[in-house]
Amino acid sequence: MQELEGRTALVTGGDSGIGLGTARALVQAGMRVVVCGVVEESLQAAHAELSRLGTAEAVQLDVRDRDGFARLADRLDQQHGGVDVLVNNAGVGFLSPTAEVSFDQWDWVLGINLTGVFNGIRTFLPRMLAVGRPAHIVATASIGGLLGAPGSAYAATKFGVVGLMEALAVEVQGTDVGVSVLAPGIVATNIHQGLRPPGEVAEHTPGGASSGDLHVAAMQPDEVGIRVRQAILDEQFYVLTHAEHRELLQRRFDALLAAVPSGTPDVRRAEVERLVLRNPVYDRVLARRTS
Ligand SMILES: NC(=O)c1ccc[n+]([C@@H]2O[C@H](COP(=O)([O-])OP(=O)(O)OC[C@H]3O[C@@H](n4cnc5c(N)ncnc54)[C@H](O)[C@@H]3O)[C@@H](O)[C@H]2O)c1
Repeated sequence: MQELEGRTALVTGGDSGIGLGTARALVQAGMRVVVCGVVEESLQAAHAELSRLGTAEAVQLDVRDRDGFARLADRLDQQHGGVDVLVNNAGVGFLSPTAEVSFDQWDWVLGINLTGVFNGIRTFLPRMLAVGRPAHIVATASIGGLLGAPGSAYAATKFGVVGLMEALAVEVQGTDVGVSVLAPGIVATNIHQGLRPPGEVAEHTPGGASSGDLHVAAMQPDEVGIRVRQAILDEQFYVLTHAEHRELLQRRFDALLAAVPSGTPDVRRAEVERLVLRNPVYDRVLARRTS
């Protein structure tokens, strides 16, 4: 998408952290930005701040509320001719070890972090395709969606978001809709003070550090927001934020490749596999990198 000025963006969880950083970057590019979230006070504060930078609106919408999404989409269709950029960013942190996760907690984190992303896409993608203008969909995963780390419920949601977006990238090829998946490392946000799951939870943060420690050297949300804006403009699919992840990503891919059975591939079976597993997005990403 080459032109953002005067177009409309919806950022879920856009009243805090990475979502607010993204909303700032988009409003500064001249977009009309609608942020949604669940905490009235922080929606009001985000609205006041974003309105000083440009045109902004804040609405209360839980990403689990499918009817609410449809109502918002209808209104934005009528008032602004639809949404051009959808940023599915709302999410909760939840790193409890698997043996301690209750069924209600699993449903809670999956419902927000994964189904919430699908709800946004399922609501807006058909409308974007019908309008036929350049549009873009972003989803916030995490580096925890590319590298396994303790906290299986959170990992399942973020690996799920990466898979959802890789599949979507294939589906929308040749349309006016571009897609990006954001996989940040640790960013200084309110995620550790944010919404809590139902029931009892002991605090679990990576490596046993306190949430305060984690934020001391963490990346700032505005830096991530600027990367997201650039990815929309450049049609960049993977949006990674931390050079520090390179080595471990390499280890994971090496470990996967080491698990592939050795021996000569069967030509006819390779053909069958190619029919099922098609993802030209990988080629596109690599081609851009070498060009
Ligand atoms: N902060 C990090 O280190 C980090 C790293 C990788 C990925 N992420 C991801 O980034 C995204 C944004 O998180 P953040 O770190 O900015 O945290 P944050 O708590 O500052 O912001 C999250 C926002 O989502 C909103 N939200 C939560 N549940 C919602 C729901 N059901 N409906 C609508 N809004 C809801 C919250 O109210 C808040 O405004 C999340 O998806 C998170 O998993 C964060």
